[in-house]
This record gives sequence, C-alpha cells and structure tokens, in this order.
Amino acid sequence: MEDFSACALVLAGGKGTRMHSDMPKVLKTLLGEPMLHYVYKALEPSFADRIFTIVGFGAEHVTKAFPDYSERCILQKEQLGTGHALQTAWQSIKDSGCEYCFVINGDTPLVNQKSVIDFLEAVREDRADLSFITITPEEPNQFGRVIRNKAGQVTAIVEAKDYDESVYGPASGEVNAGIYCLKVSAVDSLLFSLTNENRSGEYYITDLVDLAVERDMNVTAVNCGNSIDLMGINNPLELAKAESALRERIVAELLEQGVVIHNYENVVVGPRAEVAPGAEISGPCQIFGKSILQTGAIVEANVCMRDANISQNATIRSFSHLESCEVGPECSVGPYGRLRPGAVMERGAKVGNFVEVKKSRLGPEVKASHLTYLGDSEIGAGTNIGAGTITCNYDGKNKYKTVIGEGAFIGSNTALVAPVEIGANALIGAGSTITKKVKDGELAISRSKQVNIRRRNEKS
Ligand code: UD1
Ligand code: CA
Repeated sequence: MEDFSACALVLAGGKGTRMHSDMPKVLKTLLGEPMLHYVYKALEPSFADRIFTIVGFGAEHVTKAFPDYSERCILQKEQLGTGHALQTAWQSIKDSGCEYCFVINGDTPLVNQKSVIDFLEAVREDRADLSFITITPEEPNQFGRVIRNKAGQVTAIVEAKDYDESVYGPASGEVNAGIYCLKVSAVDSLLFSLTNENRSGEYYITDLVDLAVERDMNVTAVNCGNSIDLMGINNPLELAKAESALRERIVAELLEQGVVIHNYENVVVGPRAEVAPGAEISGPCQIFGKSILQTGAIVEANVCMRDANISQNATIRSFSHLESCEVGPECSVGPYGRLRPGAVMERGAKVGNFVEVKKSRLGPEVKASHLTYLGDSEIGAGTNIGAGTITCNYDGKNKYKTVIGEGAFIGSNTALVAPVEIGANALIGAGSTITKKVKDGELAISRSKQVNIRRRNEKS
C-alpha cells in the first residue's frame, strides 16, 4: 500500500465500569492474554510501529504490560469520551504525517488481521473522508445505532442511550463496531467541534459521522454482518463468550494439526502457546503464555502452566502447576508437582508429588520424588533427593545457593542450609541438618544419637 499512509490509534483509556475492577478493562484477559494483546497482534502487520494508544484509567498498568508500545502511548488525563480521546491524540497523529488514521476501541480483542487489512483496502480504494465498520448482531445491546437515509447512505451513529424511536424510527439492528478510518485532513476540521450534549455528557467519536455528513464529506460504512469477532466487550458475560469462542477455535486448530486432546471441551490453550503434533493433552487444563509442548509430551488433567517448555516425551501428571520453567525430554513431573520460575529439569529427571522447585537446575536423571523444596540450587546428574529434603535458601534477608554434585544421595528429611556444597557421590544421612561443605565421596551425618531408655513403669 505505497500510495496510502496510515497510522493506528487504539482507544484504551476507559475504566470499563461494567467490569467492576480496579484494573483497566483492556487488561482483562482472554485465555491468559490481555485484550490489548489481541488488538495489537491484529494491527501489527498493517501498521508496524505506527500504533498509538490512548491510555487513561490505570495508564501505568497498561504501559507496563506492553512496554513495546509504551513509547507511543498518549495520556488522556480525564476520560471525557471516545471523541475526547481522539482529540487528545490528534497532535501526535498529525505529527506522524500519515494521510489516514485507523481508530479502534481497545475492547475489541477478537478482531483479526484480515478484517483490518480488508477494511484498509476498501478505504484505499474509495478514499472516503470517514469510514467505519458496522455489524448486525443478534442483540444490538448497548452498541451505537447506525442511521441510514432512504438511499441507504449513512447519516449518523446514535448511541443506544440517546436513541429516540420517535425521532429515528425503529432501529435497523445495524450497529457501530468501534473501528474507523479517518482522513486526517478532513477530520481535522470537525474534531474540535464535537460537543458533549448527550445523555452521557461525553464527547463521542461517533458524532463525527453526523458532522461529516452535514459538511457533505464522503462517509462510508462497511457492514460485516453478524460477526462475534467485531463485538466490543463491556461486561463479564461478553468477555466469557468471546473467550469461549476463541478457545474453541484454538483447540479446533490444534486437533486439526494432529495434537491429541482428551475432554477437549475443557482444554484451554492460549494464543501464544505452541503445541506440536503428537503432543497429548487431557482436559481440564490450562496452557498459557509462551508454553511449548513438543512431540510426545503428555499433559494430564488439571495441570496449569504458563511459559513452560515441555520437551519430547516428558509427562506432566495431574494437578501440577508450572511457570517459566523447562522440562527436558523424558522427564516426569507430579502428580502435584510445582515448578516455579527458573526451574530447569534435564533429560529424564523426575519431580514427584508435593515437590516445589524454584530457580534450580536438576541434572539428567535427578530424582526428587516426594515432599521437597529445592530453591536456588544446582543438582548434578543422577543424584537422588530423599523425601522431605529442604534447601534452606533464605535467611530472612538474602537468598543463597545450594550446589550438589553428581551421583549424590541426600537422605530423607535433610535440611541443606545454604550457602552449602555437597560433593559428587556424597551421602547425607537421613534427618541431617547440613551447614558445612561435604566433599566428594564423603558421608555426612548430623543428628543427635539415638538413646534408648527403659520407661519408668515398664517391668523388665
Ligand atoms: C463505543 C461506541 C459505540 C460502539 C461501541 C462498539 C462511542 C461514543 N460509542 O461504545 O457506538 O457501538 O463502542 O464497541 O464511541 N475510551 C477512552 N477514553 C474515553 C472513553 C473511552 O480511551 O474517554 C476507550 C475505552 O477504553 C474503550 C473504547 O474507548 O476501549 C470504547 O469505549 P466504551 O466506553 O467501551 O464505548 P462503548 O460504550 O462500548
Ligand atoms: Ca465498548
């Protein structure tokens, strides 16, 4: 599109009152990713780095969640409406030198790259001063009503609250999707004549339509039928429906690609997860963030993971919770395993029930089968960690490391008080509290000797 330059503006300044939350609505998640993630993904191919964002309510949370876009965030200090949001961004848009500005409500996460491209293509062809997308959903809800004259030309968008049947007649069912493409030079002459004389007392971007028609500008509306993809999300029910539609699509795609999925209605996979054909998943489970499941990986029911990399033929058993971790080939985790950020398991390692691992590397074939905490540690190949082993990595102020060599055997109920080193092939007696270095091949035992004394009233 060489002869057509456009930037984009995402409106994400509103509170989202109907979500009853202290966080901005655009950060509410679908399949573990904030709404805005989806909007940005849909815009990226068309606009690259020319994407501005209006932020307002909870602005700092939005910029923190999307650092790549924070440079082009524009603060709308008071949220006086979508028209006011556009006014706030206007100077930046003009400074960008683009001929057109594509505007989208940040609460429209199901919009896809193709809808954006198709819409831009239509605008490029007819060069309208103001274009917008309309939909005809089953329920017009609170969406802005689109008014057309007898000739079918759009004359206005009237917000649901302000819609008066005695003035406009019965509503047609066609509503505004909140996606616009504005010719900057044309809208420049209208934007600052918006008023807030309406039921909400807000400056509406939608009033630009009326103003443009009055001035005989070229206004077009592209109807996209009844597509859930273009529906704005304003309340928990709409969020749930959109999330459910998205979930179904992703699961259907994975099935198509050759992923085996049991109880597929309850499998939830986020849009950034990569699941290879030949992986096997059982619902209910959640696979979020940039999780990767390689061929032959098995994820049993009731597993939650985010940003977990599961290698070939590894098994994650039921009720395990994994976050920012790596599980090597042939490894086994759980049932009831917990891998926290920085947990790395090399080939064939095993983490059993009620074992928590944080920022630790378990070498090949390491076994920690029961009731253990491993934090800030490095464990050599083939070492066995007995039940109830605890790395005492925190003294209330700082964290310290535990290093265990290859082939060691840590007896049950051992406390390893870090910083501490256990050599290769060392043996630690059960019930020990280890505070000093144990060299390669040494046996260390630190517990009080057993004393057996006859009870007072017992006869011999
Ligand atoms: C808006 C449209 C409506 C359309 C619907 C489609 C207006 C006046 N109405 O209504 O015609 O059918 O979207 O989903 O635009 N925002 C700001 N600053 C503000 C106010 C809002 O950035 O001062 C942002 C919000 O964060 C949101 C978007 O603009 O992402 C839309 O605002 P919202 O209040 O959800 O508008 P709707 O009532 O849904
Ligand atoms: Ca909305």
